[in-house]
Amino acid sequence: MTIRVCLAGATGWAGAALAKGIAQADDLELVAGVSRQHAGRRLGEVLGIPNLNTLLSSSAEEALKTACDVFVEYTRPEVAKANVMAAIRQGAHVVIGTSGLTDQDLQELDGLAREHHVGVLAVGNFSFATVVLTKCAELAAKYLSQWEIVDYASASKPDAPSGTVRELAYKLAQVRRPEIPIPIDQTQGPKESRGATLHGMQVHSVRLPGYVISTEVIFCALDEKLSVRYDAGSGPEPYVAGALLAIRRVNSFVGLKRGLDSVMDW
Ligand SMILES: NC(=O)c1ccc[n+]([C@@H]2O[C@H](COP(=O)([O-])OP(=O)(O)OC[C@H]3O[C@@H](n4cnc5c(N)ncnc54)[C@H](OP(=O)(O)O)[C@@H]3O)[C@@H](O)[C@H]2O)c1
Repeated sequence: MTIRVCLAGATGWAGAALAKGIAQADDLELVAGVSRQHAGRRLGEVLGIPNLNTLLSSSAEEALKTACDVFVEYTRPEVAKANVMAAIRQGAHVVIGTSGLTDQDLQELDGLAREHHVGVLAVGNFSFATVVLTKCAELAAKYLSQWEIVDYASASKPDAPSGTVRELAYKLAQVRRPEIPIPIDQTQGPKESRGATLHGMQVHSVRLPGYVISTEVIFCALDEKLSVRYDAGSGPEPYVAGALLAIRRVNSFVGLKRGLDSVMDW
């Protein structure tokens, strides 16, 4: 059966690549899209894809008037939560690619999704390489008791830490919390220099030109170190296959799941 998809952010850097992926998939149909600048136009015309007649709307509420099975949120942190709530209330399953939602936001969305019997899959990073990074880091956290995370992204990224790192910290905290020999509030000097504490671990967000998304977890034990690191290239291709998988699997559960690994076969 064809899965009808509504894509908010269909003209964006990540959303446009996903739109092309959906257009090429036999089992998916892009029935609606959201873009304020191109509202009223056909997505195929905007992206240069022949025969893609998806109409673009100026808001998620408007786009959701077209019936869909899965709503994909790929816009901006400041509108993501409201868009997702609107989609859940329409009875759509939701895939969240947008970064910046807090644990509390996700908890609220979990409650709403359960009320409406739909699935919400929040994925900090759709690339399969970051799934592997997370799995390696989870394994390392079992045996190496101290670690900190460095979160690199471009100078123009508005949110920090990245969605990738929020999810990574959440997953590592399910394994255990790292030892921090000198408590952060006993730091001599500005406490901020020790980074932000997320799920009991220190996260250092670097925002400089030249980075896309890079994530490094530095693990330490007595007299040894292990670094697990991911570096994205400059294009959006790494995020397409994982997002397609998320769209295909999000109807398989009710409530919230976090991370692409939660719907992958292991
Ligand atoms: N999970 C992952 O693997 C992954 C991968 C890449 C990016 N991301 C995240 O995905 C989000 C989008 O990234 P991007 O680089 O594609 O951003 P982008 O290039 O700025 O694209 C944003 C898209 O959302 C639309 N948009 C922006 N503001 C909107 C609003 N207020 N209401 C409705 N639509 C709005 C834009 O169209 P208009 O301006 O025409 O409205 C555009 O289509 C970011 O949070 C980013 O961190 C996640």
